[in-house]
Amino acid sequence: MPLIELRRVYKSYRFGQAVIEALRGIDLQVELGEFVAICGPSGSGKSTLCNLIGMLDRPTSGDVLFQGRNLNEVSDGERSEIRNQTLGFVFQSFNLIPVLSALENVMLPLQIQGAPTRQTKEKAIQQMTRLGLGEHLRRRPEKLSGGQQQRVAVARALINNPSLVLADEPTANLDSGTAVMIIDLMRDLNQQTGAAFIFSTHDQRLLERVSRRILLQDGTIVEDSGV
Ligand SMILES: Nc1ncnc2c1ncn2[C@@H]1O[C@H](COP(=O)(O)OP(=O)(O)OP(=O)(O)O)[C@@H](O)[C@H]1O
Ligand SMILES: [Mg+2]
Repeated sequence: MPLIELRRVYKSYRFGQAVIEALRGIDLQVELGEFVAICGPSGSGKSTLCNLIGMLDRPTSGDVLFQGRNLNEVSDGERSEIRNQTLGFVFQSFNLIPVLSALENVMLPLQIQGAPTRQTKEKAIQQMTRLGLGEHLRRRPEKLSGGQQQRVAVARALINNPSLVLADEPTANLDSGTAVMIIDLMRDLNQQTGAAFIFSTHDQRLLERVSRRILLQDGTIVEDSGV
């Protein structure tokens, strides 16, 4: 059974009188352990696709299945439970909370779930040390470089041992050397944890580093190296 499956997925947005068809008939399966890049020009539907896979939005028609469960048949509450427990997110703009330390940011997803603070802290410190952030635990995000902030965000995404990590343009705000570093880090974590990673990117150079590339154009998949 695939980890995530999309069947004839359409997504349109209403924009005033106009209807924008952002995704037009997406069929896709991603297995546990895959490392997948979604690429394509601006407006091709990458973020829309990431939001559907990440259960942040619902399709206009078609089905999204997670571990064989059709998300159309799952309530909003249950959907956010699945999201909190099995998905990790990394964002383009890092999305760290400025008033919290790096460590507190990493702890947050588990604390929201009500996990005990001491274990959560231990786990977060362990994860951050593994990502080379051991000396920056107490720093506020603004005192960290872009690459360090994104590593904090990666640590946060992994703290709940997700089976899928989703990253919409995680390297868009990083210089090219740091971008390569972040992708290589995600690749290592993909191999160590066995979680699936799906990220979107504009950057051609990053595509050499992935095992599967999905090319979107005008809301359809025009190329998928994994099929
Ligand atoms: N909330 C929205 N309301 C109306 N139209 C939207 C909305 N979000 C996206 N769109 C439209 O849907 C299409 C796909 O957008 P999407 O953001 O998924 O593209 P993208 O590939 O992520 O682009 P980029 O590379 O610029 O991030 C575009 O035509 C966009 O204008
Ligand atoms: Mg986008």
